[in-house]
Amino acid sequence: MKWRCTVCGYIHDGNTPPAVCPKCGAPAEKYEKLDEERAKLIDRSRYTNLLEVTLIELLDKVRDIAVRIEQDALDPKCVALAKKVQVAAWELGQNVKAELEGHMQKGKWG
Ligand SMILES: [Fe+2]
Repeated sequence: MKWRCTVCGYIHDGNTPPAVCPKCGAPAEKYEKLDEERAKLIDRSRYTNLLEVTLIELLDKVRDIAVRIEQDALDPKCVALAKKVQVAAWELGQNVKAELEGHMQKGKWG
């Protein structure tokens, strides 16, 4: 069962709402019980959003490694490839962030 704070949007998992909202301090009466469909969407969103956040972290690591390869400057082809990798990883990361923003706007969050 999931409950949503109508004041701040905090989602609580449990059989009853919390006595006090852990985020904003609103009383239990300010919580609404979410229907099963909405609760399932939140669970699915948590899973997908976690995967996408992990992807962003990995792409940041890829960029960091590519920067180090560029700085190492063993040979011009390596440097050129490292620059391409930096741009590609940055663009992919920005695309994933845009997807996450889309999820939030569609209520696929929680
Ligand atoms: Fe709250």
